[in-house]
Amino acid sequence: MKLNIAVLPGDGIGPEVTKEAIKVLKAVAVEFDHSFHFTEAAVGAIAIDQTGNPLPDQTLDLCRMSDAVLFGAIGAPKYDNDPTAKVRPEQGLLKLRKELGLFANIRPIKAYTPLLEKSPLKEEIIKGTDISIYRELTGGIYFGEKKLNKEGTQASDLCVYTKEEIERITHLAFKAARNRRKKVTLVDKANVLESSRLWRKVVTEIAQDYPQVTLDFLFVDNAAMQMILNPTQFDVILTENMFGDIISDEASVIGGSIGLLASASVGGTIGLFEPIHGSFPQGAGKGIANPLASILSAAMMLEHFGLNAEAKRITDAVDKSLELEITTTDLNSGRGVSTSRVGDFIEDYILNPEDTNLNFNNIHLGQSTII
Ligand code: IPM
Ligand code: MN
Repeated sequence: MKLNIAVLPGDGIGPEVTKEAIKVLKAVAVEFDHSFHFTEAAVGAIAIDQTGNPLPDQTLDLCRMSDAVLFGAIGAPKYDNDPTAKVRPEQGLLKLRKELGLFANIRPIKAYTPLLEKSPLKEEIIKGTDISIYRELTGGIYFGEKKLNKEGTQASDLCVYTKEEIERITHLAFKAARNRRKKVTLVDKANVLESSRLWRKVVTEIAQDYPQVTLDFLFVDNAAMQMILNPTQFDVILTENMFGDIISDEASVIGGSIGLLASASVGGTIGLFEPIHGSFPQGAGKGIANPLASILSAAMMLEHFGLNAEAKRITDAVDKSLELEITTTDLNSGRGVSTSRVGDFIEDYILNPEDTNLNFNNIHLGQSTII
């Protein structure tokens, strides 16, 4: 398959982790005889520095002409600490999601066996967790009207949803559940919010079309508690934009590190694939960022194109890196290896997937991983 991939490394650790994902995709292309072509463009704080715009037209045009977008991370402390900034890096990502019609953000949450004891949560609680969060991505409070009065003493953000916006992601969530454990949990705040009551009504109606799938409801405050109390009860979680943002970061604790969580944003003709973590500016340039979320996002990209064997080759290599503890310090505090070394190992394992090829001594000496 021939794919033109737009690469938007963004800010902070974005470029470092994206580099490893590209390395891995190139190895897959060699092994499976595909042709992946990568073109880079600026987004976020770096794009503001270069052009004054967090999503320059050139970047948006490149994305539109590509088959998929591989996205790094976005955000910089100088904006986080300046509430008066008119232009912000995050606006670049939000505009890109809107322009590309990426209304569904899919975030898989899994407890990896080799990491069970790394989570601050008890092993018996998280073991077997396998959740797919369907977060609505182009509506709600993120995109409603924002106001600040003249005096700068009153502000508001409107949470708006239309029936159509709810319907389209709900169908995707139910279709996903049909191929999984056949359960959808709608997370909302229908005891307080009118928009949540519309979600309940619309989702309940659509559930009739999927009789094999059971639907249940949780208020978001309760869901936040249930997520760490009993995460194995969840299969597909369907929720609006802001609730999805919050509970997915919370859910990352189950996996052992937010540095593991990948996502796919779909809905338009072009998909965007990005780690759920932020730009981690304190870690930038130090070679300590975990590249697995970016690498696993690349695997989600391949799945999106139906390249399932290729995606599995990546996830198998990731599993092997976790099993052998060839991981960055967030997962392996005493003996962590660098960002690029994790990428090198995964690349090597994709090219030589037999265990017999592994030279266990060399792996930790920082030499070639393959005999
Ligand atoms: C995410 C991020 C973004 C969001 C930010 C960077 C705008 O936190 O993808 O989860 O809030 O959607
Ligand atoms: Mn987030």
